[in-house]
Amino acid sequence: MESQAPELIVRWFHFLAGIMWIGLLYYFNFVQGAFLKAASPEAKADAFKNLVPRALFFFRWAALLTVLFGLSILGQRHILIQAYTLQGSAAVIGMGAWLGTIMLFNVWGLIWPNQKKVIGLVPAEAAAKAKAGRIAFLASRVNVMLSIPMLFFMGASSHGGALFIGH
Ligand code: HEM
Repeated sequence: MESQAPELIVRWFHFLAGIMWIGLLYYFNFVQGAFLKAASPEAKADAFKNLVPRALFFFRWAALLTVLFGLSILGQRHILIQAYTLQGSAAVIGMGAWLGTIMLFNVWGLIWPNQKKVIGLVPAEAAAKAKAGRIAFLASRVNVMLSIPMLFFMGASSHGGALFIGH
């Protein structure tokens, strides 16, 4: 029998990175947003300089690592294509993988480029900043919503998901 050790280790790093990613996503949505709304201009400027860039650093790299480790598990099992084409018993993890992939695009394609304008890493006029803030906010909220079914399918694939699709 092929050794299960590499998959076990990659899976471990996969959910460590996943916790870092989704933990920071929930922090942004449930904690930081409300704080920034109530904060004084000085506190806000301080947060944009010393807190938010660091949180965004761990957030975006954890997102990428989570997905890379996840893809590596699918590769080790030789079910990458089956998962993404939602075939047979790979369909359950495939749903999770699709949702995770969409979420990764939201992080790197929408949240990060727009947040760079909001926190002043990229210069922008006030109106452009406000628009960027709105787009980043909506993409972040969408990711909170998507994380709920994503984690259901992630967990379901080894814990009862087979019942669900009849395999
Ligand atoms: C493209 C994105 C992703 C892919 C391809 C992927 C792939 C996988 C695979 C193949 C497994 C093993 C499932 C099994 O044991 O049958 C897994 C488990 C897991 N994944 Fe992902 N994943 C992705 C995104 C995420 C994200 C964003 C999180 C966020 C926390 C996450 C959290 C987990 C957890 C906690 C487990 C362990 C579940 C369990 O043992 O029940 N994954 N993932």
